[in-house]
Amino acid sequence: MTNTATLNFNDKSYELPVVTGSENEQAIDIQKLRADSELITLDSGYKNTGATTSEITFLDGEKGILRYRGYPIEQLAEKSSFIEVAYLLIYGELPKKAQLEKFQNDITRHTLIHEDMKRFYEAYPAKAHPMGVVASITCSLSTFYPESQQPNRSAEEIELTIVRLLAKFSTIAAWAYKNSVGHPVMYPKNSLHYVENFLHMMFGMPTENFDADPVIVNALDKLLILHADHEQNCSTSTVRMVGSSQANLYASISAGICALWGPLHGGANQAVIEMLEQIKNDGGDVQKFINKAKDKNDPFRLMGFGHRVYKNFDPRASIIKDACDQMLNKLGVSDPMLDIAKQLEEAALNDPYFVERKLYPNVDFYSGIIYRAMGIPTEMFTVMFALGRLPGWIAQWKEMLGNKEPISRPRQIYTGHTQRNYQNIADR
Ligand code: CMC
Repeated sequence: MTNTATLNFNDKSYELPVVTGSENEQAIDIQKLRADSELITLDSGYKNTGATTSEITFLDGEKGILRYRGYPIEQLAEKSSFIEVAYLLIYGELPKKAQLEKFQNDITRHTLIHEDMKRFYEAYPAKAHPMGVVASITCSLSTFYPESQQPNRSAEEIELTIVRLLAKFSTIAAWAYKNSVGHPVMYPKNSLHYVENFLHMMFGMPTENFDADPVIVNALDKLLILHADHEQNCSTSTVRMVGSSQANLYASISAGICALWGPLHGGANQAVIEMLEQIKNDGGDVQKFINKAKDKNDPFRLMGFGHRVYKNFDPRASIIKDACDQMLNKLGVSDPMLDIAKQLEEAALNDPYFVERKLYPNVDFYSGIIYRAMGIPTEMFTVMFALGRLPGWIAQWKEMLGNKEPISRPRQIYTGHTQRNYQNIADR
């Protein structure tokens, strides 16, 4: 196998190194191309551009494979826990018992957020979208921990920042919900494990005892695992890009949260339920909405369908669909949205438009139905995605820092006016 590629341009020939990954993925390394030829590469939306080498997550979109640090997502979803997966992503190996206990303990000890932060929540309008609240409060953590802003932080300081963020984020997220419904916030309970503690802060009340349903705890733990990392997607690339300027972790993650918010990315889980509700309220004619999605003059897209990388199936969606059925059965809940979702999936999978374009249900298609059954309101769905993705973002930020990656700064091909002279306002 050759390890160079040859580019011929303007009677010149350029030898470009080929980088091979551990799963035999190959990339032409064009880093020196510009210095030798003044050529750049152009790839809008980075559809075929590798921004980094990474040891964290392997994804094969053709075969529907997803592995964290080499471990198949199916095994992790079945056997692991979210906190163990967070450790795996951030530190590279599954923890030994003592390491996991210390990690859990460290996270538990840092879940409180500064009392002054309560005033931030109070200042938001009642209808504030929780993603906006969570993004800004996450960034605000940097103002309470100014030492996190130093570019030359010690390894210990970085570790402390990571643990603080992991711990406080579930409190920040749950308080955003409490604030949106005008209920008193619930303080974290150190006796509870991560997921139970989150559910306690979401649904507990100061006046009542709250015990999370184990069916919901298990389903949520699984959902968080499935969301925990997804290599160089829009929000993760944002975290790495912002972090590459040596912005602090809180600011970098806050930027990732904002990127996740969009309906083409994590915001799709909210958009899916809104779409299913729209179909139901419109009389339930699934084919009408399939036709709308196919119509190029109609901006409507089938939310929760299609993926930049998966072109066969999204392994997360398959696990979530089963988990959704199981959870609804165990809870004895029936949701008309699930029936509409299944009809929509069936119709799309048998329609040449979706088949030819390799459009399949993605992670967001069924997750919202599970969140609904848990009692989580629609506007909180993308916050739940962020809660799951947090360890992945942190692992990617840490890897970027450890690799001493240069500041991200893409180039462009300028297509505007060439030089022209300023005209006085009277002459325009
Ligand atoms: N409904 C209808 N048509 C679609 C859809 C859809 N959901 N997704 C893609 N297409 C069509 C698109 O119009 C295009 O058709 P044509 O070749 O005729 O122009 C073709 O399929 C390729 O689409 P694309 O927009 O060029 O693909 P992309 O890789 O740029 O976009 C995507 C990927 C996920 C943004 C897109 O599939 C989409 O908008 N899906 C709906 C939003 C969604 O579910 N997002 C969640 C993604 S998974 C969670 C996560 O972000 O990690």
